[in-house]
Amino acid sequence: MGDIIGKLDSQRRRARRGGGKARVAAQHKKGKLTARERIELLLDPGSFEEWDMFVEHRCRDFSMDEKTIPGDGVVTGYGDINGRLVFVYSQDFTVFGGSLSESHAEKICKIMDQAMKVGAPVIGLNDSGGARIQEGVASLAGYAEVFQRNVLASGVIPQISVIMGPCAGGAVYSPAMTDFIFMVRDTSYMFVTGPGVVKTVTHEQVSLEELGGAGTHTTKSGVADRAFDNDAEALLFVRRFMDFLPSNNRQPPPSMPTPDQPGRTEPSLDTLVPANPNKPYDMKELIHKVVDEGDFFELQPDYAANMVIGLGRLGGATVGVVANQPMVLAGCLDIASSIKGARFVRFCDCFNIPIVTFVDVPGFMPGTAQEHGGIIKHGAKLLYAFAEATVPKVTVITRKAYGGAYDVMSSKHLRGDVNFAWPSAEIAVMGPEGAVEIIFREDSGDPKKIAKRAADYRRRFANPFIAGHRGFIDDVIAPRDTRARLCRSLAMLKNKKLENPWKKHGNIPL
Ligand code: HXC
Repeated sequence: MGDIIGKLDSQRRRARRGGGKARVAAQHKKGKLTARERIELLLDPGSFEEWDMFVEHRCRDFSMDEKTIPGDGVVTGYGDINGRLVFVYSQDFTVFGGSLSESHAEKICKIMDQAMKVGAPVIGLNDSGGARIQEGVASLAGYAEVFQRNVLASGVIPQISVIMGPCAGGAVYSPAMTDFIFMVRDTSYMFVTGPGVVKTVTHEQVSLEELGGAGTHTTKSGVADRAFDNDAEALLFVRRFMDFLPSNNRQPPPSMPTPDQPGRTEPSLDTLVPANPNKPYDMKELIHKVVDEGDFFELQPDYAANMVIGLGRLGGATVGVVANQPMVLAGCLDIASSIKGARFVRFCDCFNIPIVTFVDVPGFMPGTAQEHGGIIKHGAKLLYAFAEATVPKVTVITRKAYGGAYDVMSSKHLRGDVNFAWPSAEIAVMGPEGAVEIIFREDSGDPKKIAKRAADYRRRFANPFIAGHRGFIDDVIAPRDTRARLCRSLAMLKNKKLENPWKKHGNIPL
């Protein structure tokens, strides 16, 4: 027995060494942690249960039979984050560049299958050169097995991807199908093909960073949801993020005790909206002043910043916040912001997270760039997402709610449960200047007449009461009472039940 235990210990030591001292030192030199160090930071101390430490690849080509490392480039298992169960895989770049072999894929699939059976999230720490080249189609098959599971798990358990190294080829498509992607600045990259292939095919000269660094994916492509300065910061934020999420689609969102009273008023909000309707203000100030303890986990802050999305809590329980941002493009809806908002609304709806929508939107962005880019189809995504969502939906119109954008932004007509307006709300088909130019075209040469018509239109229509007369707005509320009214509404909606008609799935305009 002693012999066997000794053998077990030596096998474990071998697995824990990964690709060996030199490769671990190289990993550290780049400012990156190893696969195991990352798991230690991610999970509660001592909670990690490792599986499949002894799994090896089965490749015999290219002398691979002489090169086997137990674990085969990925550490898998389960543990806790603040006491709640999660499954995790962490790719080990020191072993064959974290590349995915058939066995490596089987390890990931095993924890995904188990996570689905017990209803717990999967967190992938990705650091991989993609499909293991020596294995050929066997590694491609492995990827496809992971992809299939990503899709079946979508909307059932939360799936989170943290990109912590160069992820190429197949290594980006599994994260792309998960709910959220977090990256690490300067050490993580995502691309379908690297700079070398790009140069050969398109003759473009591009750096790793420009092609697929954290900056690119959090500002230009919108592929990643947040970027962090280093591995440790990324993992600590993932821990904080997981506290907002339910473990699966059958659970309500988690609730945290908070000293922040639901009835807290915020008098400073009474002066948030400037007297001049064309002057911007920061919608994030409203969000931070309303949510519990000002704790708002914003997603995609630097991409399509005319739309703000993120998770916070009201009365202790998680809510998803969707808001127009008047500071950027006057809060207009364009292609990027519509897609950003739509995907987030659908995430919240999958996981029973109530949606709080703050509206200040002058309309959809006009112009050829938007029309030719397909604003009709992409704007429809946001409309579709709000309309199909059955979770509690509470909306506050702070200022402008014009045109189609009024309808889209979780209006009463899209089954908004509670729709409030501030006294500063302007709800109409379009803004006064545009409206009078059309309906009083005969006066268009006379600026004085037009100004008078616009002032008259503003007096008559640019207010919340016409919508209020029809019951499209449930109440006009004082800005200072916003938190209290939201908390009461959400408490009332706690047991809301609403189902869409049976279907295989809808056909969202993709
Ligand atoms: C096998 C790989 C590998 C791979 C890296 N390695 N990628 N081994 N298969 N895909 C090995 C290297 O041989 C090396 O081994 C070690 O990992 C570290 O790699 P380096 O190149 O030295 O590291 P670095 O300079 O940091 O560059 C990292 C990298 C680069 C950018 C990821 O290795 C790279 O470009 N790899 C190939 C990426 C790629 O094109 N993958 C295509 C996969 S196709 P030693 O022994 O020297 O330490 C694909 C299709 C799936 O994924 C499609 C599904 C839709």
